[in-house]
Amino acid sequence: MKPPVLVTRKIQERPLNLLQEHAQVTINLENRPMAPDEIIGQLPGKVGLLAAGGDPLSANLLEAGKDLKIVANNAVGFNNIDLAATTRLKIAATNTPDVLTDTTADLTFALLLGVARRVVEADRFVRAGKWVGWTPELMLGGDVHGKTLGIVGLGRIGSAVARRGQGFNMGIVYTDILRLPPAVEQQHQLQFLPLRALLQASDFVTLHVPLTPETIHLIGATELRLMKKTAFLINASRGPVVEEKALVEALQSSIIAGAGLDVFEHEPRLAPELIPMENVVIVPHIGSATLATREKMSTVAVNNILAVLRGEIPPNILNPEIYCI
Ligand code: DGY
Repeated sequence: MKPPVLVTRKIQERPLNLLQEHAQVTINLENRPMAPDEIIGQLPGKVGLLAAGGDPLSANLLEAGKDLKIVANNAVGFNNIDLAATTRLKIAATNTPDVLTDTTADLTFALLLGVARRVVEADRFVRAGKWVGWTPELMLGGDVHGKTLGIVGLGRIGSAVARRGQGFNMGIVYTDILRLPPAVEQQHQLQFLPLRALLQASDFVTLHVPLTPETIHLIGATELRLMKKTAFLINASRGPVVEEKALVEALQSSIIAGAGLDVFEHEPRLAPELIPMENVVIVPHIGSATLATREKMSTVAVNNILAVLRGEIPPNILNPEIYCI
């Protein structure tokens, strides 16, 4: 009999077929997340769990997986997993890095361009039948080219956003826990600034840090007050990196010019005050949402499971210490 694997959300046909060749798959095909109790109910006997990035995989849930050997998160972010619990329980945990880098950077730039040039607002305006003809001051936005782009977190996605910014002739400043060697900074025309100075210098601040205890509310009222009144905040990382209440207040009192948001502090809920704001572009956590990228992500997740089923260390292991004797 093939080893049993639980898949909590729909995945594309090709990766699903690949998984089904080697595993007996139970999959949730309904267009809704599985509740933690439902997952717990399905876990006994399963050796693999292919989870969605939004599934909260608590210690309690993981402990119900007595036979679990791998939890493959179908996302690059893994703040939804109690990683310490997977390690304690000797369950391999994996994510899907690299394959979504450019797609998420594209969406980040779409938010940036969208909010600066008022694209969504202008679209709503036309559809509402309000357009009566060319007007000298209609929908005047902020320029993107030639401006300063401040990148908070110069990892894979942050770096891909920097490259896009350079394509738009933007000056790039960045902050991170680790500074690049000066020669690399020079080669790629990247200037390191501490967070405070970055917030003061940037016309666009874009966030690309993982969600950790250190990055929760990294951007709150104090940080927003440091930004230029003409600056925009872009967040396609994780919602709780920004204190949403403080962001609402900053937007209401014109402390900053606008925001482009893919993620929210309490997804899928968002602060109701954001809804009528024309200077905020809101999308529903779609950073990696292209057909090709979602298929690649699921394929990476499946390959991690298949590696474990073959008795190998999965390529995208997050807790390699479980393999130490
Ligand atoms: C990721 O991969 O982390 C995306 O945010 C999808 O959850």
